[in-house]
Amino acid sequence: MSSASERLSSGTRSSVTNKSTASASTAFQSFRRSSMLGIGASQGSTHRVFLSWAKLQNPRALLRLSARCPKFVVGCIQDEGALLRSSPMERREFLGLLSLLGTVGATRWAAQQGQHEALSGALTEHKLPPLPYPYDALEPYIDAKTMELHHSKHHQAYVDGLNRAERELARARATGDFTYVEYWSKKAAFNAGGHFLHTLFWNIMAPPGKGGGGEPTGLLRQLIERDFGSVDAFRRHFAAAALAVEGSGWALLHYRLADGRLLVLQAENQHKLAPWGTVPILGLDVWEHAYYLKYQNRRKDYIDAWWNVVNWAQVQENLQAVMGK
Ligand SMILES: [Fe+2]
Repeated sequence: MSSASERLSSGTRSSVTNKSTASASTAFQSFRRSSMLGIGASQGSTHRVFLSWAKLQNPRALLRLSARCPKFVVGCIQDEGALLRSSPMERREFLGLLSLLGTVGATRWAAQQGQHEALSGALTEHKLPPLPYPYDALEPYIDAKTMELHHSKHHQAYVDGLNRAERELARARATGDFTYVEYWSKKAAFNAGGHFLHTLFWNIMAPPGKGGGGEPTGLLRQLIERDFGSVDAFRRHFAAAALAVEGSGWALLHYRLADGRLLVLQAENQHKLAPWGTVPILGLDVWEHAYYLKYQNRRKDYIDAWWNVVNWAQVQENLQAVMGK
């Protein structure tokens, strides 16, 4: 433990020991002063020490403190991204803090957010696009329940997340407080990737026998044969890429603007490994939420089945659009 942390731990123990005689707010102010002096440059560390300290307090005292010092407590809550990315223990501590703060804390946080509604720059209101077919239209290859959850819950969450991230960045511009610019920039990239790729995904599928399945034709087929050797070689390459995605991600067929060729790549999550200067025209979602209800851990079976719902005519339209034809 660093010397700064030792001083803070000592201060924490001291606060707890004197809790019976000092008022809760005095103890908290003492904690704030000691933590700021002890760490200074690391707000995240300050927040983590606060969480440890907060666990030792009774809920009533903590609520009183959140009323006295809402800005600092709000800062801890807004630091959730760093906390949730770190260890499970810190995640539990954060969730424990939220539980302690309860309804009063959430209300106060919401009020705090409302105080900074000034935004700088125009915002796009992203919306969930409707599916071009019913939820059960891709049966038996993709089941209706998976489609409903995938579209109405997962994709909706990406739309909401993107709107939230872009609003927070606009708020940061308005207030000049860019403390969380890294956090919200990452959220914007993650959710924008999810919104873009899922919109692509719904459109390059169609009910089997009604636009779904079959073979690529026309210009798309010509470029596939030119750049992969054959349609079968492309399928094998694409399926292998999808199967080998580490964790959650996508297999994508890109059109590269610089030399006008097609290439198969993976994406981790929905935004990592994406190269510059390429545009996806076909994508296969291999997050577990895309197949687990029906296929459980059998990702290969899902990939094999998915070819039966690929809308090659739409993929060709995507290709022509990006080529400007
Ligand atoms: Fe998905």
